[in-house]
Amino acid sequence: MSSRRSQSDALEAFAWSRQVERSSTFLPSRWKQQPVRYTTRIGYRSDLITDEVAVCADVFLDHATGRRLIDDARATGQGSTRSAADVTLLGVMRGDQFRFRSFYLSGRRDGQPARTVVAHERADRGLATPLVKGSAILRSLAGRTQLRIPRVLDTGLVQDRRGGRVMDFAVEEAIDGVAITQDQAAAVAPELLAGLHDLWRAEEVRHRPMDSKVQAKARLAMIDLLDNGGGFTLWPTGVDRLTTGKKALGLLDSDAVVSSGLSHGDAGWGNVLRLKSDGSLALLDWEHAGRRLLSHDVVKVLTSSGIPPAEWPALHPPIPGATGGVAPAHLQLAMGLIVFLGGRRSRTLRARKRGSAPANQRRTHALLNALSTLLNGVR
Ligand SMILES: Nc1ncnc2c1ncn2[C@@H]1O[C@H](COP(=O)(O)OP(=O)(O)O)[C@@H](O)[C@H]1O
Ligand SMILES: [Mg+2]
Repeated sequence: MSSRRSQSDALEAFAWSRQVERSSTFLPSRWKQQPVRYTTRIGYRSDLITDEVAVCADVFLDHATGRRLIDDARATGQGSTRSAADVTLLGVMRGDQFRFRSFYLSGRRDGQPARTVVAHERADRGLATPLVKGSAILRSLAGRTQLRIPRVLDTGLVQDRRGGRVMDFAVEEAIDGVAITQDQAAAVAPELLAGLHDLWRAEEVRHRPMDSKVQAKARLAMIDLLDNGGGFTLWPTGVDRLTTGKKALGLLDSDAVVSSGLSHGDAGWGNVLRLKSDGSLALLDWEHAGRRLLSHDVVKVLTSSGIPPAEWPALHPPIPGATGGVAPAHLQLAMGLIVFLGGRRSRTLRARKRGSAPANQRRTHALLNALSTLLNGVR
């Protein structure tokens, strides 16, 4: 079951990039064809020089293997484009959605700082993708955060010749930084969490029982996990499925007061860079930003850092405005986990499509293990 991904996706991403270049004054434009090379994951100008690739170099790495994605020896195709983009990264397909992020690296040729364009295809022409809301939130945060965030230079829509396909796009400042490696993650997590805590102050934090729709979705997913989990490999060994599942349902239905506010939505290390210039942490890719449980982002940071769940409650940043009636950290985290598990089925489907089912299962195990630990002292 493979995605629709084909060899020429990179050429298509370049063609869309050119559309964006024509509709935004924040990008260079070019009239001559330029030769490009590509694989199924990346496309790049054939005449890219090392100095240019040094900008955002860590973004052009395969983080699983550490291998460079810009590698002539591995290029499987060649073509040409009128886009001025230096590099385009192909996004993982979500259903049939086409998505990519292109980079304009060289200040050398147009005297401008490095920029990036992110573009997501609309499934329905009349319905904005989450990128639109995410970019609006990112823009509203400019200059108000301790974490470095990309400046949004422009946003808009482009369509293909016939107007049958429409893509939302955003032009952003490209952040030149180094990735946080898996073995650094646990040590850097407190710094990222402090940055999230600072973000929470940027918008109102509300303390109330969970939204009933979110609660209903999470309840259904938890019942699904409880039913289907036995006998299969959904639950890790060492976790008592029935006890944990029942406690989780009990917590969900308890009307515990949980805290919600501004959330990035995908605060894993794949969206973090440390700036080469001043060493500060940058948080990228705000596609999923919105109001949700504050613990959602905390859970994401902690799970992707490999920190033992017993240590999680102590690492949860103080919640702005929380008083005595508000659920303590371990329950906030448990709620965040339960809601996150509500998206398990769709994540599993996506993981199967992109061939990363084993990693997805390991993550589910880690989440259920953490849930069991957090609910340990709960009756
Ligand atoms: N403003 C930016 N500057 C530099 N790199 C970025 C920026 N935004 C995202 N990236 C990096 O580009 C890569 C892909 O972009 P992203 O929007 O996160 O797509 P996805 O998460 O859907 O793969 C990621 O490695 C991300 O860290
Ligand atoms: Mg990302």
